Amino acid sequence: MAVDYTTHDGVAVITLNNPPVNGLGLSTRAGIVEGIERAQNDPAVKAIVLTGAGKAFSGGADITEFNTPKATQEPTLHTVIKTVEGSAKPVIAAIHSVAMGGGLELALGAHYRIAAPGAQIALPEVKLGILPGAGGTQRLPRAIGLEAALNMIVSGAPVMSEKLAHPGLAHPGLADSGLFDEVVEGDLAEAALAFARKVGAKAGPHPKVRDRKIEHPNAAGFIQFARNSVAAVAKNFPGPLKCIDAVEAGVQNGFDKGLAFERDCFIALVQTPESHALRHAFFGERAASKIPDVPSDTPVRDIKQVAVIGAGTMGGGIAMNFINAGIPVTLLETKQEALDRGVGTIRKNYEATVKKGKLKPEALEQRMALITPTLSYDDLKNADLIVEAVFEELGVKEQVFKRLDEVAKPGAILASNTSTLDVDKIAAFTKRPQDVVGMHFFSPANVMKLLEVVRGKDTAKDVLATVMKLAKKIKKTAVVSGVCDGFIGNRMIEQYIRQALFMLEEGALPAQVDKAIEKFGFAMGPFRMSDLAGNDIGWAIRKRRYQEHPDMHYSKIADRLCETGRFGQKTGGGWYDYKAGDRTAYPSKVVDEMITSFSKEANAERRKISDEEIVERLVFALVNEGAKILEEGIASKASDIDMVYLTGYGFPLYRGGPMLYADTVGLYNVERAIRRYASRPNGDAWQLAPSIAELAAKGRGFNG
Ligand code: 3HC
Ligand code: NAI
Repeated sequence: MAVDYTTHDGVAVITLNNPPVNGLGLSTRAGIVEGIERAQNDPAVKAIVLTGAGKAFSGGADITEFNTPKATQEPTLHTVIKTVEGSAKPVIAAIHSVAMGGGLELALGAHYRIAAPGAQIALPEVKLGILPGAGGTQRLPRAIGLEAALNMIVSGAPVMSEKLAHPGLAHPGLADSGLFDEVVEGDLAEAALAFARKVGAKAGPHPKVRDRKIEHPNAAGFIQFARNSVAAVAKNFPGPLKCIDAVEAGVQNGFDKGLAFERDCFIALVQTPESHALRHAFFGERAASKIPDVPSDTPVRDIKQVAVIGAGTMGGGIAMNFINAGIPVTLLETKQEALDRGVGTIRKNYEATVKKGKLKPEALEQRMALITPTLSYDDLKNADLIVEAVFEELGVKEQVFKRLDEVAKPGAILASNTSTLDVDKIAAFTKRPQDVVGMHFFSPANVMKLLEVVRGKDTAKDVLATVMKLAKKIKKTAVVSGVCDGFIGNRMIEQYIRQALFMLEEGALPAQVDKAIEKFGFAMGPFRMSDLAGNDIGWAIRKRRYQEHPDMHYSKIADRLCETGRFGQKTGGGWYDYKAGDRTAYPSKVVDEMITSFSKEANAERRKISDEEIVERLVFALVNEGAKILEEGIASKASDIDMVYLTGYGFPLYRGGPMLYADTVGLYNVERAIRRYASRPNGDAWQLAPSIAELAAKGRGFNG
């Protein structure tokens, strides 16, 4: 039963009971209408309380029903809210924990609202590429004022319930708006009953938010200001501007016309690829934490104390993640100087955050106090998790893991941040391979959301469950990868870069390639990115590749660049020229000439390469390798690959990741393009993943 109905001495209590978050799916909606009608028909009932069981009042419309017949089946959310609002007996929404989206819209249909403090109140629809579609754009401005409402609607950000109380009622001082009639410190259920009895004794009609006026000295001016600001940041997403249009429609034409306009906008937006992509990311993020053969109730190990080995670029950033979450970190280096440098860099990072006003000065010292710098392995014996981030050499990793095996307490998790080495080999340096796992952070590790959790052949299930839970605590999007060269992300990017380099040989120039893929939506094209990261890093990896895969065909054009010492921004030049103190990439005459003469030497006929070809070759190279990664079970689902690319590689969010994008294009078309490129010069780099052809033949995609 999705809704419970009880009566308490003249008050009917309708409790949404649809775990986990009381989503307003069809059966919940029907249950609410049934409850309201039952209460109308019971002469003993004088007032109705609407509340939620478990961990939310309501998380809103059931997103899984979108674009299915259930979404439009009666009673729709509109009908539910109309029924609530039209009730002759007063309805009191009693809100705790979360009232979001349709949940808040439902509450806005009630005659009165009371809330527990600390409840998150939001209209987050815009984050799913839509707008509040059940009256939110009309009622919220009437409840809390145009400016506050528009901010909430356009940002989707939650506001704490105590900030939204009626002036002069509970929490004086905090109260600055009129959403809640009371904010209740004690027992919410008891307070709701008392409130209901009080208003139930009053004669109707009871107040409706829809009847309130939107007061603003210059509504048109404010709306125009909001539109200009939003247009500048919402470039590829239609949702935010539609939110403004809908609010404006209500301001100009009144409630009913505004509501009808809002509804039309909702229907249009929910079908856009952008909304599809954002919902895919919402569910993909949650799905990533579920590992098929690791049950959700797997017991986890307690992580109270962390150690990080190596205080370089990665080690420092990794340590900051734990410190930010209040977990003490012991930081180990081999030399005092390196240790001091590492700790100094962490302090500098925090100082910069303080300067930006994002961290209080006293918090800086509190965070620094959580670091214990050391040169001695003896200081690691209490650590529950040890993350190694030393030089990327198997010999060095061997020394470290052998030593860790001697000193770490039984049950401690031993993690490596290696980006290219075999986690199984690293695990084999210890007598406890079940406790070893890869934790592949991305640079800067304190900023980037992605964490690839590399599952070795012996990694214990509770180790994986622990690391996934911990990742959530340190606010990372964790995706499990099996052991292979480059794991999910870097293995795919190698094919993308391979194509980028071939295209230089065949006729393109760096600026053209970057521009085309940036127009597609990537944050940065491959050549600007490589100049930023340092071209020498890729060079070192390629040198290893040439030895490991002597038969594999790579373009040597990037090696030629590196031989001239053009390592990127840090040397003042790479694929582009740079001016001192300026990160702008200026196309380089020298490099462009180098590329042209390289083509000549390689007997490659230079031709005009279209932007469409550039995008296809880069993106389909990712897709093809992604498909192989799925075939091999390195990733367990397509959405995991998309999460890696959305959170770690700057893939455009509004396209939902490479695998969803391929589904959008259609795998039949992806297959045809790959076969076409395979038949051209450098075509040997395209080995079509069999699953693409198989899925295309069935008319299916990676995501079903
Ligand atoms: N519909 C369907 N499922 C939902 C959901 C929703 N609105 N909100 C959450 N869920 C599911 C999640 O997918 C997850 O499922 P899983 O356990 O199978 O992975 C489960 O509920 C728990 O979610 P979280 O892991 O996110 O739980 P938290 O406790 O961390 O957070 C929350 C709870 C703050 C409610 C968060 O889930 C959230 O932000 N949800 C989305 C809220 C939202 O966007 N609401 C607007 C919906 S659109 C709408 O209302 C349209 C209307 O205007 C017409
Ligand atoms: P770095 O060179 O900046 O830092 C390595 C640190 O380890 C140095 O401070 C060094 O003094 C210390 N160190 C070396 N041997 C040690 C030992 N035996 N005991 C203790 N400390 C020791 O290197 P970086 O970039 O931080 O890389 C570290 C690891 O992270 C490597 O495995 C690398 O592949 C991986 N990685 C690097 C990324 C990057 O973008 N730099 C991204 C993801 C992973």
